[in-house]
Amino acid sequence: MFNKIFLSSDHGGFELKEKTKGFLIDNNFEYEDLGCSSLKPVDYPDFAKLLSKKLKDNNDSMGILFCGTGIGISMAANRFPHIRAALCTSVEMASKSRKHNDANVLALGGRILEKKLALEIVKEFLQTEFEAGRHSLRVNKI
Ligand code: RB5
Repeated sequence: MFNKIFLSSDHGGFELKEKTKGFLIDNNFEYEDLGCSSLKPVDYPDFAKLLSKKLKDNNDSMGILFCGTGIGISMAANRFPHIRAALCTSVEMASKSRKHNDANVLALGGRILEKKLALEIVKEFLQTEFEAGRHSLRVNKI
């Protein structure tokens, strides 16, 4: 199980980040919001970097990143060796990203996903454990 959840987004993911915070509060998850804090345009690599730095110092925690599509911010985060960010558009992808890939960051597209589905993806990601076993060798090769 993880300690806390770091959240970070650009303007394209801001609204979904706010919605996700409501879900985390309702379900008693501890979280820290690293921004952004409005719909004012910002650059997603800056927010991917903020979250990646936090996970470096808190390797018992998870992250959730948001941008318009989830693509840019997941690409930026995956430049950091300790980050395994999974861009998920379905509950099954969220499940597999944890079971098989030991993803420590979930990336979501705020302009792509319907809010209800997005929260189902968040729930699945947070409640699913890494299966280790044969998957460990492959994850370690990353
Ligand atoms: C910002 O307009 C948009 O490009 C960004 O949120 C994201 O979709 C990039 O991948």
